[in-house]
Amino acid sequence: MNTPNTGTLFGHPKGLFLLFGTEMWERMSYYGMRGIFVLYLVAFAGNFGWDMAYFDIDPLSATAEQDYSKALQSNALGILGIYAFFVYVTPVLGGWMADNKWGQRKAIIVGGLLMMCGQFALGTPHEYIKGMEVTFLWIGLICLILGNGFFKPNISTMVGDLYEDGDKRRDAAFTIFYMGINLGSILGYMVVGTIGEKIHYQYGFLTAGVGMLLGVLLQLALSNKYLGNVGVEPSAKQKKGNEAASNKPLTSEERDRVKVILIMSFFTIIFWLGFEQAAGSMNLFAKYKTDLVFFGWEMPASWLQSVNPIFVILLAPVFAAVWVKMGDSEPNSPKKFALGMFFLGLGFVSMVMAALQIGDSETAKAHVIWLVLAYLFHTMGELCLSPIGLSMVTKLAPLKYTSLLMGMWFFFSGVGNYFAALVGKLVGETGPLAAFGGVAIMAFVAGLLLWLLSDKLVDWMHGAEDSKPQTLDEKIEEEMSVTGAHEAMPENHNK
Ligand code: PHE
Repeated sequence: MNTPNTGTLFGHPKGLFLLFGTEMWERMSYYGMRGIFVLYLVAFAGNFGWDMAYFDIDPLSATAEQDYSKALQSNALGILGIYAFFVYVTPVLGGWMADNKWGQRKAIIVGGLLMMCGQFALGTPHEYIKGMEVTFLWIGLICLILGNGFFKPNISTMVGDLYEDGDKRRDAAFTIFYMGINLGSILGYMVVGTIGEKIHYQYGFLTAGVGMLLGVLLQLALSNKYLGNVGVEPSAKQKKGNEAASNKPLTSEERDRVKVILIMSFFTIIFWLGFEQAAGSMNLFAKYKTDLVFFGWEMPASWLQSVNPIFVILLAPVFAAVWVKMGDSEPNSPKKFALGMFFLGLGFVSMVMAALQIGDSETAKAHVIWLVLAYLFHTMGELCLSPIGLSMVTKLAPLKYTSLLMGMWFFFSGVGNYFAALVGKLVGETGPLAAFGGVAIMAFVAGLLLWLLSDKLVDWMHGAEDSKPQTLDEKIEEEMSVTGAHEAMPENHNK
């Protein structure tokens, strides 16, 4: 890896801020589109041919209007669901492609351009494409799905590639990068959302496409200067030592590290399952069971959605600074993950308090502070887990699989999102108290388990979280520890 020496900004290589900017525009485009997508599908149902006959609704029946509006909404949510799922499957493909064929730099340009085309396809005015509206809709979605697959895992692995093995600034770097993600999402909701809802939904998509184009141009203009040769060559072709790394089977050390990534990924399923209640059950709780009236004015429930990205931006620099300041006593990544789980649990304790305040009453409303507190805790949890996870994958993945494993990381979060929807339905069936309480308990148990497992997991990392790269002697010692001698070693030999 050869990062150009163009100096640092806030103690980090300048390339980090280029990746920050590129990802910010991409997320602006992504979240902006997602924010208005279902609204667009419902508003333009007529143009897509989704009339009453399409849903088998008898226009003369007394409930026709209601049935139609329900059918339209569930149709729109169904399409969003398919999209949201596949968006997290394709990073596995995009990661493989970057590792083996293209390198990350090319993959994110191709991905960015594909996503731009996707937004433009969605934004093509219907009068120009009469009779092909549905075709354009799916072309748009497919471009976005494929494009995201090429873009998302690979921009993340490049952040890691800016740092040498064992560089302590890596977690902080990903936390800063995470601010770019959230700045982008706020920008998306504000700019794309406002243009979409106030002027025309399709102008919203066109704006999102322009945002993506800006990201691509930024990357094309500055990457040679600030990223040097990072991400230029596919990692499987990069030589390590004298031999091409790609031809050798994984060593037992590398296999242990992959095991750590997979175990930690499993815990992220539980985290996202809870965290993603934000857009579902917690959103509904906000709308129907929370007092949102202030001085006679009712706040839209959806405003609470931006509490999370705002907290991320406020708190990310604090977390990044705390990790760096803690120096040697900085918790290792499994412990940070465990903390993340505890924060998630605390967030749901706050939701339990809200549910208790309402009790059995049908009309009582909970105080909004419980929701804000819940989002605060959830954001703190997210900052202990999500950027740390990205960082961990880049630390632990064997070189030739880095982007592929990053793709898997996103895939697992997609699985978490899928389960989140199932849990959301449960809230409707069992009531908020039992469901939120259940999630809180699950989060605490998972956090505790992870805390107990953390030393073992760090052992399996084989020094990847050490402050300095291993010497040959240490490597040999590690190798022995895997083959059995390890029980006799002091517990914290590789901290
Ligand atoms: N805000 C994060 C992002 O867009 C949410 C996320 C986390 C998405 C984990 C995928 C996986 O990157």
